[in-house]
Amino acid sequence: MNYVAWSFACLYVLDVLLLGSFAFEIKSRGVDSIFLNGKWNLMNSNSSLSLSADVPGCVHTALQSQGFISDPYYRFNDLVYRWISLDNWTYTTSFSLPDHVRGKEKAVLVFEGVDTVSTISLNGVIIGKTDNMFRRYDFEVTGLLKDKENLLQVWLTSAVIYASQRSHAHSQYRVPPDCPPPVQKGECHVNFIRKAQNSFSWDWGPSFPTLGIWKDVRLEIFNTLRLQSFTTSPKYDTDHSSWNVEVELFFNVVVLSKGFVRLSIPLLDSEAEFQLSLTPGQSKKTFGLQVNQNASIMFWWPFGHGDQFLYDLNIEINLEGGETFNAERMVAFRTVELVQEPLPSSPGLSFYFRINGKPIFLKGSNWIPVHAFQDQVTTDMITILLRSVQKANMNALRVWGGGVYEQDVFYTLCDMYGIMIWQDFMFACALYPTEKEFIQTVRTEVTQQVQRLKSHPSIIIWSGNNENEAAIATNWFNITVAERPLYVKDYVNLYVDNIRDIVLQEDSTRPFIVSSPTNGIESEKEGWVAHDPYDPQNGDTHYYNYTRDCWNWNEFPRTRFASEFGFQSWPSLSTLSKVSVPSDWDFNSDFSAHRQHHQDGNQQMLKQAELHYILPNSTDPVQRYRDTIYITQVMQAQCVKIQTEFYRRSRSTIVDGKGHTMGALYWQLNDIWQGPSWSSVEFGGKWKMLQYWATDFYAPVLSVGLENIGDMLIYTISDSHTGEHKVKAQVELYSWSSFDAVCSLESNWTTIKEGESTLVFQRTVSAVLTECGNCTRRSCVITFHLSSPNGEMIGPQNHMFLSSPRYAEGFQKPNITFTVKDAEIVQNYAVTLHSSFPAVYVWLDVDDVPGHFNVNGFLMLSPSLTVIFGAWRPTTVEEITAKLHVTSLRDVY
Ligand SMILES: *[C@@H]1O[C@H](CO)[C@@H](O)[C@H](O)[C@H]1NC(C)=O
Ligand SMILES: *[C@@H]1O[C@H](CO)[C@@H](O)[C@H](O)[C@H]1NC(C)=O
Ligand SMILES: *[C@@H]1O[C@H](CO)[C@@H](O)[C@H](O)[C@H]1NC(C)=O
Ligand SMILES: *[C@@H]1O[C@H](CO)[C@@H](O)[C@H](O)[C@H]1NC(C)=O
Ligand SMILES: *[C@@H]1O[C@H](CO)[C@@H](O)[C@H](O)[C@H]1NC(C)=O
Ligand SMILES: *[C@@H]1O[C@H](CO)[C@@H](O)[C@H](O)[C@H]1NC(C)=O
Ligand SMILES: *[C@@H]1O[C@H](CO)[C@@H](O)[C@H](O)[C@H]1NC(C)=O
Ligand SMILES: *[C@@H]1O[C@H](CO)[C@@H](O)[C@H](O)[C@H]1NC(C)=O
Ligand SMILES: *[C@@H]1O[C@H](CO)[C@@H](O)[C@H](O)[C@H]1NC(C)=O
Repeated sequence: MNYVAWSFACLYVLDVLLLGSFAFEIKSRGVDSIFLNGKWNLMNSNSSLSLSADVPGCVHTALQSQGFISDPYYRFNDLVYRWISLDNWTYTTSFSLPDHVRGKEKAVLVFEGVDTVSTISLNGVIIGKTDNMFRRYDFEVTGLLKDKENLLQVWLTSAVIYASQRSHAHSQYRVPPDCPPPVQKGECHVNFIRKAQNSFSWDWGPSFPTLGIWKDVRLEIFNTLRLQSFTTSPKYDTDHSSWNVEVELFFNVVVLSKGFVRLSIPLLDSEAEFQLSLTPGQSKKTFGLQVNQNASIMFWWPFGHGDQFLYDLNIEINLEGGETFNAERMVAFRTVELVQEPLPSSPGLSFYFRINGKPIFLKGSNWIPVHAFQDQVTTDMITILLRSVQKANMNALRVWGGGVYEQDVFYTLCDMYGIMIWQDFMFACALYPTEKEFIQTVRTEVTQQVQRLKSHPSIIIWSGNNENEAAIATNWFNITVAERPLYVKDYVNLYVDNIRDIVLQEDSTRPFIVSSPTNGIESEKEGWVAHDPYDPQNGDTHYYNYTRDCWNWNEFPRTRFASEFGFQSWPSLSTLSKVSVPSDWDFNSDFSAHRQHHQDGNQQMLKQAELHYILPNSTDPVQRYRDTIYITQVMQAQCVKIQTEFYRRSRSTIVDGKGHTMGALYWQLNDIWQGPSWSSVEFGGKWKMLQYWATDFYAPVLSVGLENIGDMLIYTISDSHTGEHKVKAQVELYSWSSFDAVCSLESNWTTIKEGESTLVFQRTVSAVLTECGNCTRRSCVITFHLSSPNGEMIGPQNHMFLSSPRYAEGFQKPNITFTVKDAEIVQNYAVTLHSSFPAVYVWLDVDDVPGHFNVNGFLMLSPSLTVIFGAWRPTTVEEITAKLHVTSLRDVY
């Protein structure tokens, strides 16, 4: 296959079709794989329930698809169905062996993923046990197989009961937290089981401690050997200025075998052949393919900084006996460094990523599990989410440590799209036990996951855990001074002596940090637990404060790297209506309280909104509910915008020794169910206002307006890799009561450079208002954009307020009406809006028609405006007309 410069305009459907050729596959003559996926039988512990169940799958999904339960996400069903997770369940299947595999030397039963605690038997003989959903298990079953009617059983123990038993067995000292806060309505002791930590509940998600067989099951039958897995790691050799692709092959060998291995990258004219000699047992062989120095290698760049070149690498193994193995994988050439160095006029160290030698600002968000039932995560949904990431001009995601190591297709798409991944190991917000068996299963988990994932260029860093350094340092769990060393010792044992140790051995192509947030090198100096892991002058930070006014950017930590920050909002009514009834549609209903898993979350949203907006007060309860959802999304979008713009403009400034911010990853991209959360994309893929706004605040070239001690400032920030731009800012003031600009101002010409934040405009607010004659802080809004010498607009239009919209003067109900037309491009519709007055936060919602607008949540300063809706399924002008709701700020009170 040729190298592919991915065009981001192509339909996502195309990606899905192409994925087939990207997923790695081992083709072999000599090994028979018999997949045992499909319909199994499922039974609970007292045999009162017996049903057919899909593998891969889980008990909840099986019960729902067979009609034993209704949608677990519906209303209060997470509590109603708690019994499912407290029972033990058995999966059973029977199978025969095809003639041609009978009598072969060796048979191995491979479970790619069991959730989580089980005993597995074949024909009545116990072949193994599992205790870790993140591990692959290979059980040798040679000699146990019959030609016909083999009986395979997986006896699953309740994860909740198991975690509780393990916690009680750990009697010397407690390993907190015992239970989640009551508002989460979850289960206890999740830190005692190697399972998605959010499955026992989180502050944005339900408690569904699933049981099941969540990945493929297959038999591998062979006479000589099998190739279990392989890795490909391009490494840059600075001494010789050349690339070498390290290939590791993992074999399971029955008889002494000889042959040769050929590695090639046809497009780079690179090929090498090696002798292979294997002795019985597990065997790892490492080879290096020197890339032809004459070939011109194209780099893999993060999105927005260049193309994502991927090259096909072929592996061919020929054994003397005639057996062959063929495998291929896309490889990419890129280097990554995490730079922690002294900075001029700032204590502490920098914390930023250099990709291919170039400093890159990470723009993006945090990723959580796409569904509580992993078997319901589709490639389509992953694609929609990752497309949304790219459409919003993001170049990075952090795969957060309380969920799962994502499936292969996720990372493959990130490789293709240029989305950099910050990969946590799956430990979050807790202390963990360190007894021998626990460490042992974690060691295998980490080894396997690093070997599975390290071939992906998109992954740029490993991180040991989420917030566990901070949990000890800032004493979340009331640990006494006397006990503290014990917990620090356990912490260092797990994340440093074990996880870090394995990662450094297995992967030298990307950095590792122990926690997030951390002070990096400074944490290491302080014995791996810094006294303040939130220090803005070292490492990364997580920052949340819901009571402070988010418009006051002075309050945000001027951090080196913001890996978490955010505000909650509610998803749209069309998303909620799938799991609720009209009597739930009230901000004060039991349903609204039930779905809110963050203490005081609903009140915090309204209080923050109320600082700047008049809260909805329609007398129609459903209208008021819709409007309240809307105002939470307005608040969230505005808050995250202000904070992100602050981080982006702090990239090249040091103020009071703080700054040089090189990353902004807001919490959180996606949702696990239909409930309030920090997400910008709702469960199901619908965009909240924040996701639309991210497109602008993450734009390659951005202008940012703000007020500082009476001055109005405009900064420009450029991530554009196309060089310098000469720009001036064009500023206009509009009164709330007229579509005609009250006045316009201009900055001087300024040259903005890639990687810099530049002040382009500075005037006192009072001078601006005086010059503008008829404007006051309350009667006008300021818009601005950058233009080039030939009059071209550079970057998006932006705006700023000089007072809260709640105090706006001359603000009128805009009376927005619309017409819908077919835009004559497949599934695109043109919506033309007419407004009587300027309107702000204009929001178009087409209910449950999937798709998105080219722009939404905008400031409307003209009597008419046309926006485009791209639908993700066939629809009609009539359907859109009937379902479209248009709301602006002045409409809700
Ligand atoms: C069997 O287990 C189910 C589910 O836990 C329970 O509802 C039922 O009462 C039990 N039946 C008997 C006979 O114990
Ligand atoms: C499930 O298995 C656990 C562990 O063996 C046991 O303690 C528990 O009693 C079992 N629960 C039921 C409902 O059988
Ligand atoms: C590289 O190019 C030089 C000059 O054309 C040639 O002599 C040499 O064989 C080439 N090397 C490889 C590995 O193709
Ligand atoms: C820690 O102790 C304080 C004061 O004794 C108490 O209010 C708080 O609930 C405790 N927190 C935890 C997590 O135990
Ligand atoms: C948020 O900020 C307020 C005001 O500065 C402060 O009182 C409060 O403690 C902060 N809350 C948290 C959770 O840090
Ligand atoms: C433009 O430059 C002049 C001269 O340096 C300066 O006085 C003026 O304040 C600048 N204008 C703006 C809008 O920054
Ligand atoms: C100010 O507004 C008034 C009333 O709208 C208008 O008559 C007047 O011309 C405006 N003055 C300026 C300087 O724009
Ligand atoms: C709202 O707009 C429509 C169409 O532009 C117009 O017919 C109607 O009179 C307006 N209503 C108000 C209250 O301004
Ligand atoms: C809603 O609040 C606005 C602004 O305070 C007020 O003018 C309006 O009359 C209120 N509407 C209702 C129905 O209470």
